[in-house]
Amino acid sequence: MKTFAPKLSRRKFVLGSGALCGGGALYTFGLESSWLDVGRHEVQLGPERSAVPIKLLHLSDLHASEVVGLDYLRRAIETGVSLKPDVICLTGDFVTSHYGQFDRYAEILSALPKCAPTVASLGNHDGGAWAAWRHRGYADTTEVRALLQHSGIELLHNALHPITLKNRTVNLAGVGDLWAGEFRAAGVLPATAGASPTILLSHNPDTKDALRNFSWDLLLCGHTHGGQLRIPLVGTPFAPVRDKRFVRGLHRWEDRWLHITNGVGNLFGARFNCRPEISLLTLV
Ligand SMILES: [Fe+2]
Repeated sequence: MKTFAPKLSRRKFVLGSGALCGGGALYTFGLESSWLDVGRHEVQLGPERSAVPIKLLHLSDLHASEVVGLDYLRRAIETGVSLKPDVICLTGDFVTSHYGQFDRYAEILSALPKCAPTVASLGNHDGGAWAAWRHRGYADTTEVRALLQHSGIELLHNALHPITLKNRTVNLAGVGDLWAGEFRAAGVLPATAGASPTILLSHNPDTKDALRNFSWDLLLCGHTHGGQLRIPLVGTPFAPVRDKRFVRGLHRWEDRWLHITNGVGNLFGARFNCRPEISLLTLV
């Protein structure tokens, strides 16, 4: 018996491929980049679990720009605040390049310190020689520092600040960005562990190697955007890190923790198979 397979004409193939590409582009550039996710992890900081958990909200790579609007960032921040964190850590890239709405941006960010103590480190896009060269950005970090100050957010730029949260003392520390040439750990971080755990904000996860000989317990990073485009069978070829093992998520590394968030914003308005996220870490 003769069977007839449906014939795929050249016209149908071209139309189908075009629709698929158009749909893919619509999804990548129009939908996924603002489809915010909440990533949740539990992190045990000491040898024993604490009976008093601390909720830490980790946000990174907001990238306020023409492709990441303030209405979207307001929604992300409101979502973060609704999780009722005890402390909030921001790990850089507040802008992509030159920016024109700092007053409104500061008003939106100010919701964070009204909710919980909020500290930040800077990223490679926040100013410096790299930002000016690669993205026609700011030659220094004056504008982003002013944004943080007007928002009520404490900048930890090669600095350490002990803080008491729920009767637990935690060292919050932050280092400058690696690519901006402002990274410095010596004189900021202790070489040996003290009584309190240290949570370290460093934009670029590749800094872990330079931080190996210092004492810290949890490293909070962004920078990678989770890879931003995660291609099946290929991976994350565009992740801007040397060590591609650490592109996103929570990892154990040399008896300590490393958390890399996908970030809230993006570059070029695109995300594929890699939703933007805000991260809630429960420290026990
Ligand atoms: Fe970034």
